Amino acid sequence: MHTILNHPLVDHRMAYMRDVATAPKLFRELVSEVTTFLAFEALRDVNTREVEVQTPVAKTVGRKVSDEIVLVPILRAGMGMLDAMLDVLPYAKVGVLGMQRNEETAEPVPYYSKVPPAKGDEIALVIDPMFATGGSAVDAVSQLKKLGYRRIKFLCLVSAPEGMENFEKHHPDVPVFTAALDKRLNSHFYIVPGLGDAGDRIFGTL
Ligand code: PRP
Ligand code: URA
Repeated sequence: MHTILNHPLVDHRMAYMRDVATAPKLFRELVSEVTTFLAFEALRDVNTREVEVQTPVAKTVGRKVSDEIVLVPILRAGMGMLDAMLDVLPYAKVGVLGMQRNEETAEPVPYYSKVPPAKGDEIALVIDPMFATGGSAVDAVSQLKKLGYRRIKFLCLVSAPEGMENFEKHHPDVPVFTAALDKRLNSHFYIVPGLGDAGDRIFGTL
């Protein structure tokens, strides 16, 4: 199952982000802003508990998030989404997964993992701006499942239909939230039209 944000203010930001002339500073800001939208959408069904609140006028009942959240950026580009996620979810824990695509085959090569042990009922939000062949996403989610995570969601900025199909075959139980679903992959496994190499654009390493 996947959800495309479909919001004019997101599309507006994506247009700037895709623009090859957009420099890293603005690119990072746009990544953060769109990530905020993704976080709100992905957590529509988060559990809350009733709390008593004293406003300046009266006592009332409010609701606070009761689910534990673990954020899991995939290194390195996923780090570009982390600050925005932590702004929205300051009480979240963070684990990281290091993954590098083989440039010829696009196979993911995992190189690092530091994720808190799972209790089983927490929500793990995997974050990575790009979802191309879906290989990195499939591997990341498989690693989390092995660690005992049961409630996993994947948040990305740009995805390709080929990757979505691949991912949904492997992990039909894990919803994907994407700001845009693009047309296709090119012969180098880059998303078309996409936005190029997200990691390079975030970290200024073009
Ligand atoms: C990019 C991106 C994803 C992956 C997506 O990372 O951030 O992790 O490729 O491609 P896939 O869906 O085909 O697996 P990359 O390996 O280029 O590393 P980086 O984050 O260090 O730039
Ligand atoms: N990784 C990126 O950063 N961009 C793509 O288009 C595909 C993989």
